Amino acid sequence: MFLTGTMRFNEQGHLEIGGCDTVELVKEFGTPLYVMDEELIRKNCAEYRDTFKRIYPNSQVVYAGKAFLTTAMCRLVDEEDMGLDVTSGGEIFTALQAGFPAQKMIFHGNNKSPEEIKMALAHGVGRFVVDSFAELDLLEETAGAVGKRADIYLRIKPGVEAHTHHYIQTGQLDSKFGLGLSDGQAMTAVKIVAKLKNVELRGIHCHIGSQIFDLKPFQLAASVMMDFIAEIKKKTGTVIKELDLGGGFGIRYLEEDSPYSLAEFVEMIAATVKEKATELGLPLPKLFVEPGRSIVGEAGTTLYTVGSEKNVPGIRKYVSVDGGMMDNLRTALYEAKYAAVVANRKDKEPTEVVSIAGKACESGDMLIWDITLPVLQRGDILAVLSTGAYHYSMANNYNRFPRPPVVFVGNGKADVVVARESYEDIVRNDIIPARLRNSGVREAAN
Ligand code: LLP
Repeated sequence: MFLTGTMRFNEQGHLEIGGCDTVELVKEFGTPLYVMDEELIRKNCAEYRDTFKRIYPNSQVVYAGKAFLTTAMCRLVDEEDMGLDVTSGGEIFTALQAGFPAQKMIFHGNNKSPEEIKMALAHGVGRFVVDSFAELDLLEETAGAVGKRADIYLRIKPGVEAHTHHYIQTGQLDSKFGLGLSDGQAMTAVKIVAKLKNVELRGIHCHIGSQIFDLKPFQLAASVMMDFIAEIKKKTGTVIKELDLGGGFGIRYLEEDSPYSLAEFVEMIAATVKEKATELGLPLPKLFVEPGRSIVGEAGTTLYTVGSEKNVPGIRKYVSVDGGMMDNLRTALYEAKYAAVVANRKDKEPTEVVSIAGKACESGDMLIWDITLPVLQRGDILAVLSTGAYHYSMANNYNRFPRPPVVFVGNGKADVVVARESYEDIVRNDIIPARLRNSGVREAAN
């Protein structure tokens, strides 16, 4: 069994996170419940900050909000002195609501709308990561209309293949994200920007994928990006001062997962950038990285209550819990694998292979295929580990299940940072057109 962060089993055999007994948390907040270990999130932020400060001080760590974003998380990110990668008007709004400085936001997206661009310009978002020629036109026009200048990075496809699930790979040429190097689009974009009045090229950006365990693709991407900076200088005379290498650093979902240490990762990137700068006669750029999963992933745990079971003789035993693909899409989407522990009784040895099913109306709604656990009983609390990234942020209302709450735990205290959705929330935006309003009355009268 592997436990993350501040997790431990207490004297009653209950799982504790951040000094909070999970059985008590369930009594107070119900299940499914997302529990975030605040101490571990802060430790991860500090580790990023301190490691970069030590190895490559001219740098900025930018938290990728798509992994997990709420107003409380924005406050934490600000306190931890990190920038924020935002991908939509909704994420910008969330950050602004929390008082997060717009100047420290980096705005991503392959199809930013005119309204989102206007909103970002009005609030002074620090950097726009431009993804296409069409966006350059839109940005020039919109910035001109409101009398502002947009500071941009160009998103580049470095042509690097990262070994991860193909849905979460982004650096290759056949991707909806970014401008290609090998087909000349990236250089064409640089030349176009040079002619624009309201758009200023501050740097270049790449993001090669997510949940990457291999350091080589990062090294290759850093090297390719430095070559491109040299090419830009040669062909246009512009010296690019900021290099954003995106996110993607892998985390532990299973006991056997073994990501590289952060120090190894930073040392390798720093060494590559420095060597290339010397070789190409370039000044050292300011480095940006955008970790999401590696900040919050292992800090999250989802608590479920065990319900029905079904034995399919000779095939498998399904044990259903009270959540599923509504709070965790990753098994269905990426065949993701998880570890889990029984949170309310650390008594028995794991002896039985079962599959953990969700309760949504879809065969693919499985949380874990074939995991060895103690024999589960109705009412047990199952804790699925490493659910801090891309779980709450990808949660949905399929089958009209309300989304679970999120609590931050630490030092024996639990604070709700997102309330549980109610059935009223579920129908809040529903409207019955006038022509349908009386049909219920008629039926009732019959
Ligand atoms: N920067 C950019 C431009 C990105 O697109 C992403 C993730 C990140 C940073 C953060 O990457 P991270 O450090 O979290 O790997 N839903 C998928 C992951 C999608 C990643 C999208 N982009 C999953 O659940 O695995």
